[in-house]
Amino acid sequence: MNAEQAAAGDAGTPESRSAPVAAWSPVSWQSYPAAQQPVYEDAASLQAVLAELQRLPPLVTSWEILTLQQQLAEAQQGKRFLLQAGDCAESFADCASPLISNQLKVLLQMSLVLVHGLQMPVVRVGRFAGQYAKPRSADTETRDGATLPSYRGDNVNGTEFSVAARRADPQRLLQGHMHSALTLNFIRALTEGGFADLHHPEYWDLAWVEHSPHAAEYRRIVAEIGDAVRFMETLAGAPVASFSRAEFYTSHEALLLHAEQALTRQVPRQRGWFNLSTHLPWIGMRTAAPGGAHAEYFRGIRNPIAVKVGPEVKPHELLHLIDLLNPDDVPGRLTLIHRMGATRIASALPPLLQAVREADRRVLWVCDPMHGNGETLSNGVKTRRFANIRSEIEQSFDVHAANGTRLGGVHLELTGENVTECLGGARALNEQDLTRAYRSTVDPRLNYEQSLELALTVVHRVRQNSAAAPVG
Ligand code: PEP
Ligand code: CO
Repeated sequence: MNAEQAAAGDAGTPESRSAPVAAWSPVSWQSYPAAQQPVYEDAASLQAVLAELQRLPPLVTSWEILTLQQQLAEAQQGKRFLLQAGDCAESFADCASPLISNQLKVLLQMSLVLVHGLQMPVVRVGRFAGQYAKPRSADTETRDGATLPSYRGDNVNGTEFSVAARRADPQRLLQGHMHSALTLNFIRALTEGGFADLHHPEYWDLAWVEHSPHAAEYRRIVAEIGDAVRFMETLAGAPVASFSRAEFYTSHEALLLHAEQALTRQVPRQRGWFNLSTHLPWIGMRTAAPGGAHAEYFRGIRNPIAVKVGPEVKPHELLHLIDLLNPDDVPGRLTLIHRMGATRIASALPPLLQAVREADRRVLWVCDPMHGNGETLSNGVKTRRFANIRSEIEQSFDVHAANGTRLGGVHLELTGENVTECLGGARALNEQDLTRAYRSTVDPRLNYEQSLELALTVVHRVRQNSAAAPVG
């Protein structure tokens, strides 16, 4: 077992489950081992930045957070489906109008396909407006004999391979907050102001995809929805307001605990503490140890929260984590995002599903088919094969069906840009194609066509399984 896998689950022992739980506060995580934190050379300037972050207005409100929790509770009951998707890592340079609107276009198109195909509302959660910190497998990177700290996301340091760029700079936390605010402001303005209007799905067309292999199927779905919208409005005798806007929620991996703490606030007329930097923070696989600082921080906030679950996690460890993070079994509180890899899911997932089902714990199961399917080509390029991504999604639906549980969502890394970072898909991108438009600074993302194809895959698989399910 490597260090990451150990961090992902093995710190939790059955003995520690019965240990008394100490009082929580926004700073109590500081008494626990915190993995993946940058080392800042100047403690005073970090403190000054955190004080400023603590003073600035937050990004989201407790009302929005609680509404999302309610919607996630409905997803747990099979009444909604979660689409959580966006960049692996946002960058300050990509905080620009077309990149943000193209991302929204893909998410809107995918959610349209899912709503139509699954016949249920979709909860749209972006990996955006704060996804600026990355966990890394190695603390350092070596190039041509020189070793420097790894790039940990724009909230920490820069991608350039130089001593200056790789130094952890606390000022970046403030820049991250500002860029998150700019991103979220634009997203809110677009989605409230008519961009997401179901009467105008042509607003979401991306210029470069006219000849997409999936265009015809997508156009057919749009036409059917157009008919349904007209029918409903004819019946109602007036425009239906909810057809002209779409709700988006934000999420990011809450990795840098000092910064998360600075955005953890109390609000009038609500008990407890909310992380007001995002609606749905998640704990990454590398920091999900029950004895670690991340679990301690997350257990005390009132947001709905998610945890990545890798193939090394044992059933008793998962139950321990559930006890810690959601002791009162609050509906909508806990989402478990499994990311096993196409070759491991069939063996790794069933014991976890059975354990949670037998313990009768309420969770929302979501499949991340991206992070267990990374590979590095002989030329050093990191990629993922579309066939493996699709296979993990399909297997997920089947494994849940076989174990009496429900897959309630997908978690994807994608972009609205015409990138060539993942191999395969309807256009059969090959290794040469990867050199054409590889832009990711971290993990390879799905492009628009591959994303739409996955949304169609979800619909086809759900329909196939429900056709095969016994009636009654
Ligand atoms: C991620 O979601 O970008 C990530 C690093 O995932 P995981 O924690 O599952 O490896
Ligand atoms: Co990633």
